[in-house]
Amino acid sequence: MRVWAISDLHVDHPPNWEWVRRLSQSDYREDVLIVAGDIGDDLNKIQAVLEALLQRFAQVTYVPGNHEMWVRREAFSDSLEKFHRILRLCDGLGVWTTPFLVGENHPHPVWIVPLFSWYIKPEEGEGSLFLPKPGEDPSLRMWADHYYVKWPFDGEDMTAAQYFLQLNQSAIRREYSHPIISFSHFLPRQELIFPENFDPREAEKRDRYPSFNFSRVAGCWQLDEQIRLLGSQLHVYGHQHRNRDRVIQGVRYISFCLGYPGERQNHHIHPEILEPLCIWDTRHGPITGTR
Ligand SMILES: [Fe+2]
Repeated sequence: MRVWAISDLHVDHPPNWEWVRRLSQSDYREDVLIVAGDIGDDLNKIQAVLEALLQRFAQVTYVPGNHEMWVRREAFSDSLEKFHRILRLCDGLGVWTTPFLVGENHPHPVWIVPLFSWYIKPEEGEGSLFLPKPGEDPSLRMWADHYYVKWPFDGEDMTAAQYFLQLNQSAIRREYSHPIISFSHFLPRQELIFPENFDPREAEKRDRYPSFNFSRVAGCWQLDEQIRLLGSQLHVYGHQHRNRDRVIQGVRYISFCLGYPGERQNHHIHPEILEPLCIWDTRHGPITGTR
C-alpha cells in the first residue's frame, strides 16, 4: 500500500477537472490519497471529485481549504455551517476526516492524521505567519476570502483558527503506535513560504501581485505546535501553490499541489504533473527523492 498526496485541485478550472478524470482507474486500487484542501467551493463539485477519487483509491482523506469555505452560491448561513456540511458529506462517502491506520500488518504501517486549520492575520493576535512586504496593501481587497468567507465568531472570544485548532485536540491526545503523517491545508511555518534558495530580488521581478502579501493569510504557528505535540514525522500541506519538500527540526514538510493551469504554464509549479506525489510505502516506509 502506498500513500499519495496532492492539494489545491481547484476543479473550477476545466483542465484540473480533466486531470482528476484522467487519473488511472487501476494503478492506485490498494492505495491511500491525501487531499490537503482546496478542491473548490461548489459543494456538488466537491462531492463529484471525492467520488471520482474513491473510484481510484482504496482510501481517501481530506480537509477543506479556504475555497471550500466560500459562501456565494449555496444557501449556507455562514462558512462554519458549510464546513460541517462538508464533514457530513465526507462521512457519508467514506472519506476520512479523522485519524486512521494504514497497512497495520505490513512492515511499515503509518497513521494518517488530518488537522483542521485556518490562517491568523497579523491583526488577529499571536501566531500569524506574517512578514512585512514593502508596498503591500493590508486591506486584502484582492483576496477573495475577504468577500466570500463568513465566520459566525464576530464579537465572540474566538477566531476561526482557534476554532479549528480546538477540533484537533482529540486527535492530538490519542496514543499512536506507529509513525504519523499529518496534513493540513494551511502552512504551519513561516520558513515554508519561501524556497530554500530564495532570492528576494528575483522574487520581486516575478511577483505578479506586488501589493498582495501572502504571509497575512498563509497559516499559523499553533498548527506547527500541534504537529510537534502529535509527534508527526511528515506533514503535508497546501494553500500556497508552490511545492516544497524540506526537513525542519526533525519534521519533513511536503507541499505538492496541482494549482492553477496558468501557474503550471508559467512554471511556478511543475508544468506536467502526471499524478499525486507518493510519500510512503507500507513495505519500505517513507519515499524520498521523488522530485
Ligand atoms: Fe488555499
